[in-house]
Amino acid sequence: MLTGRNPAAMCVAEAPSSNSSTTLFGVVFVMDDPLTVSPDNTLKVIGRAQGVYTSASQKDVSLLIVFNFFFTEGKYNGSMLSVLRRNAPLEDLRELPILGGSGLFRFAQGYAHARTHYLDIVTGDAIVKYDVYVLHY
Ligand SMILES: *[C@@H]1O[C@H](CO)[C@@H](O)[C@H](O)[C@H]1NC(C)=O
Ligand SMILES: *[C@@H]1O[C@H](CO)[C@@H](O)[C@H](O)[C@H]1NC(C)=O
Repeated sequence: MLTGRNPAAMCVAEAPSSNSSTTLFGVVFVMDDPLTVSPDNTLKVIGRAQGVYTSASQKDVSLLIVFNFFFTEGKYNGSMLSVLRRNAPLEDLRELPILGGSGLFRFAQGYAHARTHYLDIVTGDAIVKYDVYVLHY
């Protein structure tokens, strides 16, 4: 969520030319989004999706995203999964590589499928559903 009293993503840097770019090339956001069990049950928070993303294309709307799924509940409390991704937010289904993890997710490898569940074009507020598949020890 970008709006509200406590926005979960905010712009922290930009190039002098970013505002005149149609893709906002060079803008950097930092995010701290709640992670819930499902997109329809947004009350049960089980962790955070924390990281940065930047507009990394001069031609298309395309982001470079680096973030962790950091879990705060149950046996996965304190464990995390790390994601690195080129993301075109307007694509229906995005595949994100899981590069590694820590805690119970040590040696993790896999991928996540991301789908936009809800998007308010005007404010940029969104709910994204992640289906995560990982192998770990
Ligand atoms: C870009 O536009 C935003 C919103 O209008 C403004 O706050 C910001 O200062 C502008 N940045 C530059 C580098 O011109
Ligand atoms: C998760 O771990 C932290 C740090 O050890 C602890 O403070 C917290 O109470 C734990 N949360 C749950 C839900 O077990």
